Amino acid sequence: MKTNYDVAIIGGGIIGCSIAYYLAKEKIDVAVFEEKQIASKSTRAAAGMLGAHSECDDFEIFYPFARSSQLTYFDLKDELRELSGVDIELRKGGIFQLAFSEQEKEELSATLSLPTVSWYDSVEMRNRENAVSSNIFGAAYIEDDVHVLPHSTCLAFSKCAQIYGASIFEYTPVFAIQKEDSIYIIKTNKGAFQAKTVVVANGVWSSSFFHQLGLHHTLSPVKGECISVSSVQPLLKHTLFHEHCYIVPRNNGRLVIGATMVKNDWHEQPTLGGLESLIAKAKTMLPTVTDLKIESCWAGLRPQTFDKKPFIGYHPEDEGILFATGHFRNGILLAPATGQMIRDLIVKQEVKKEWIDAFKVNRF
Ligand code: FAD
Ligand code: GLY
Repeated sequence: MKTNYDVAIIGGGIIGCSIAYYLAKEKIDVAVFEEKQIASKSTRAAAGMLGAHSECDDFEIFYPFARSSQLTYFDLKDELRELSGVDIELRKGGIFQLAFSEQEKEELSATLSLPTVSWYDSVEMRNRENAVSSNIFGAAYIEDDVHVLPHSTCLAFSKCAQIYGASIFEYTPVFAIQKEDSIYIIKTNKGAFQAKTVVVANGVWSSSFFHQLGLHHTLSPVKGECISVSSVQPLLKHTLFHEHCYIVPRNNGRLVIGATMVKNDWHEQPTLGGLESLIAKAKTMLPTVTDLKIESCWAGLRPQTFDKKPFIGYHPEDEGILFATGHFRNGILLAPATGQMIRDLIVKQEVKKEWIDAFKVNRF
């Protein structure tokens, strides 16, 4: 078995797999070590919205980075399908971000000032989606905030990375990273591997590697619970979004309702209380939602940093170690931009200074 690589990536979620894809495409010899299966944790739980506008709380840093990632997806979907045969199901439709009062419209004013966003009053909105609550005041329509299937997207990245020569090791937890001369030894249940560079990309579980590598950074879990329901006739053509709750239309009349925000809960099962609050919120947007049949429910852990922005960059004292973790509510959206940024740092291509500064590990 080959045990020597240029780059070792720890974690086979959407972030690790996107990085593997962009590096392997540059003919860099890369291996991904995944404790369970590819796309089995937070990535699998996600709704898959590419909410560059609807999730934006910072127009200076988050928005340009997220928007560049969102735009990348529009071409990437074909590239990934042609190479891997996997359809990431990026469908047109976009998001209606609902306002239930004049004040809520006011709160959307920064979003509404963007040329990619338009305002629909209550009547116009209900002409587009007639099952929406008659209590709405109006909605911001964002055509580009489409969605993908997160699990398929991660698998497509991983398959394409393999086609470009990457090695993917599933059921291979990394226990430790040690430095010997200028080479890193990656200790796993399948023995020791060597790499010149290591990328820590194991989501909310990255804290242990920060600590092993002499840093005090901690990621906290913010659990999100979701329910999937089905209807015979498709009820929605667009995603509905209000505060942190959303209803995403999938194929065959399926709707994904998400998601709760439960801080510091490491349990990956949904609770009845969580689902109850979710159903109550969904009902305010789409009153008939309670008539629909439950298909399944699940939960996942969003990896949150102290300022809710990801860590993307070098270990402050070791240029052989990089971190790409803490993508919180937007790992699916930010995966292409993160993969490209890590690739550019490793191959010494120029990266925007404001992104280096905003996401660097020692930005306290
Ligand atoms: P993960 O997907 O958790 O992957 C980390 C991987 O590392 C795991 O597979 C784990 O098994 C592995 N691992 C852990 N420790 C080790 C180790 N020691 N050795 C080897 N492997 C290890 N984002 C969006 O952009 N849009 C959305 O609509 C959206 N909706 C969401 C809805 C919910 C309910 C939740 C919970 C999240 C949502 N997110 C969304 C956020 C998104 O899911 C995350 O930001 C993203 O999945 C993080 O990806 P990741 O690769 O960093 O982490
Ligand atoms: N971005 C949607 C969520 O985290 O629930």
